[in-house]
Amino acid sequence: MSIYRRVLRYYRPFLGQTIFGLFLSLIGIGLNLLKPWPFKVIVDDFLRAGPPIRSDWRIWIPLLCLALVTIQLLWGIINWITNYLFVKIGLQALLKLRTDLYSYLQSLSLKYHDARRSSDSSFRVAYDSQSIQTIYNKGFTNIFGSTITLIGTFVIMLRLDRQLTLVSLAIVPLIVGAIYLFAHRIRRESTSIQEQESAVLAQAQEGLSSIRMVHAFGREEFEVRQFQQQARQSLQANLRLTLTNVNSALVISTLMVIGTAAMYYIGTLHVLAGTLTLGSLLVFSAYLLMLYQPLESLTYTTWAMEGATAGANRCFEVLDRQDDVVDSPRAIAISSAKGAIGFNSVSFGYAADRYVLRDVDLRIEPNQIVGLVGGTGTGKSTLLSLVPRFYDPTTGSIALDGRDIREITKRTLRAQIAIVLQDTLLFSTTVRENIAYGRPDATEEEIICCSTNQRQRSIRQPNRPSWTQSKN
Ligand SMILES: Nc1ncnc2c1ncn2[C@@H]1O[C@H](COP(=O)(O)OP(=O)(O)O)[C@@H](O)[C@H]1O
Ligand SMILES: [Mg+2]
Repeated sequence: MSIYRRVLRYYRPFLGQTIFGLFLSLIGIGLNLLKPWPFKVIVDDFLRAGPPIRSDWRIWIPLLCLALVTIQLLWGIINWITNYLFVKIGLQALLKLRTDLYSYLQSLSLKYHDARRSSDSSFRVAYDSQSIQTIYNKGFTNIFGSTITLIGTFVIMLRLDRQLTLVSLAIVPLIVGAIYLFAHRIRRESTSIQEQESAVLAQAQEGLSSIRMVHAFGREEFEVRQFQQQARQSLQANLRLTLTNVNSALVISTLMVIGTAAMYYIGTLHVLAGTLTLGSLLVFSAYLLMLYQPLESLTYTTWAMEGATAGANRCFEVLDRQDDVVDSPRAIAISSAKGAIGFNSVSFGYAADRYVLRDVDLRIEPNQIVGLVGGTGTGKSTLLSLVPRFYDPTTGSIALDGRDIREITKRTLRAQIAIVLQDTLLFSTTVRENIAYGRPDATEEEIICCSTNQRQRSIRQPNRPSWTQSKN
């Protein structure tokens, strides 16, 4: 239950708007329930067989027709407002959760990101986060609307004809059971589709990102075969879902028509016996159709909510994650370091039981240039990555100008360090912005100074592509 409470917290700023929306939907439901009545009056008061037609029909029939249009129009407007309002609120909460998630993921240490694929984190930000909107739009507001509609319809039906109500409702448990069974299968099959689709995506991504290797080894056909096999599985999963969908439509509509037929049979007997007017029978059949719709929507809601809860859980899992590399409460901001670096018996391993560095002592003076030399995988990059606190040592400590780096805020510590990474990476923006990535406030001269001589020459030559052009 606490997951829902947590989701609701994102909607607290919209409490007033939500209450307003729910109030409007109440009016909408009332209008919806009114819809069959003008026709009932026409049938019962003007179209009755036997006594001559009332003389004022010329006034009343157009008025009743107009009433129907007015009811529908008002209902339409209210429906328009509530739908738009609820979706807008849902999207705003989604925006907040996405921003929270993304900024938290940005702040989490590399240790967190090392342990999972970046596509998993992206998936949480882009897709899992949507469940917060589903829970609000398909869940709370929908459950509210459907329940009130159900109760309202049921009460009016009971008042019209008790026996008829019971007869037509006898089929309801069967319908709910069928919907539930199918919904269960649909959910299972939808999950399987999602997995297959994500596998197709992963297959394509992997094959295309390693295209150099694929070409070098002439493995294009193999890659295509692998992809096709995966895509075929996705096709089969989609076909299975479609089958379940059409089957469920067939079964449920048959059950519904059985209920309707039973209601027509008993209803006709009641009309013939004079205990029910023809108009009331018409109202009744309209309500019976109205009753099935919220029933269906409630049953589907239960499983939509299950899926959404799983998604919301995956989002909160990230937000609950403690950062492994936190600023100490006593951390201070530094403005300019001299650059004396000291490693004091530093040991570190990515996994607890496999040390990469063991008891490293190292002293580097300001302005001293040091080269670390060693075979691949001996821990050179690891040693360096401890200085900007990408990771914290398992034991031992590192000091900058004699101060433990855990007592310097990460932001100001990293501002003192320039890093040229081993793997080249360009953001999809201009060359200029890529150069100025670490210092967005760098001046034009500084940026030009950083670029190579060759690059400078090409910038200054006319008719060359501008360096502010995007890299792709
Ligand atoms: N992010 C990581 N997660 C787990 N193990 C890692 C990670 N990065 C490096 N390693 C392991 O740590 C060891 C040292 O790696 P590294 O510091 O990159 O070596 P070098 O830079 O000297 O080639 C290697 O065994 C490597 O497999
Ligand atoms: Mg390295």
